[in-house]
Amino acid sequence: MGCELTKLAATKSRNQAGNDSSSPPSLPASTDPRLPLTAKQKYTVIASWKAVSRALEPTGIYMFIRLFEENAELLNMFTKFRELKTKEQQSSSMELAEHAKTVMSTLDEGIKSLDDMDAFLTYLHEVGASHTKIPGFNRQYFWKIEKPFLDAVERTLEDRYSENVENIYKLTIKFIIETLIDGFDKAQSDKAKS
Ligand code: HEM
Repeated sequence: MGCELTKLAATKSRNQAGNDSSSPPSLPASTDPRLPLTAKQKYTVIASWKAVSRALEPTGIYMFIRLFEENAELLNMFTKFRELKTKEQQSSSMELAEHAKTVMSTLDEGIKSLDDMDAFLTYLHEVGASHTKIPGFNRQYFWKIEKPFLDAVERTLEDRYSENVENIYKLTIKFIIETLIDGFDKAQSDKAKS
């Protein structure tokens, strides 16, 4: 009797474990080969970004304060707020908040379109290209936002910023910056040709 029950239990758990075989085999989800993230990483970044998306302005203000803290000379390119020398002035400036929101909305649009590489690339190439019109802007300046971006995301996500999430954001911002630079370079070489 006890023996039958044991067998029954064993059969049941075997069947449960075997349930997977009735659903389609889980193949690794395919991703666009241009995207340097796995399907799982893409899913994680899009999901975790939702919390950042709800706090674009504070995240952006912090990002720019960090940028200017490390690279005070870049402030000169921003005609609307180059006179804001201190962190306190910067964090209470409406102009800086406005710009921070604009840049963060671009990143928001970019990250939300990681599922559609054509849309992602077209959009960020355009934003990169727009920087060719900024007097004194150098393509390498895009890299200056990498660390401030990661610091700002960490501050917004707090304990949701695990080591895994951090690694994925590092890959994501690198890809975004490379895409902006491609757009910048393409616009510049098109200009040279015309
Ligand atoms: C994640 C990277 C970046 C994104 C997505 C981005 C996006 C943008 C966008 C969408 C605008 C247009 C703003 C508008 O129409 O008012 C803009 C303007 C501008 N960006 Fe960027 N940007 C990035 C990085 C940088 C960096 C690193 C610098 C400087 C070192 C910079 C300097 C500027 C300047 C000077 C303007 C013109 C601002 C003005 O006078 O209105 N950008 N950026």
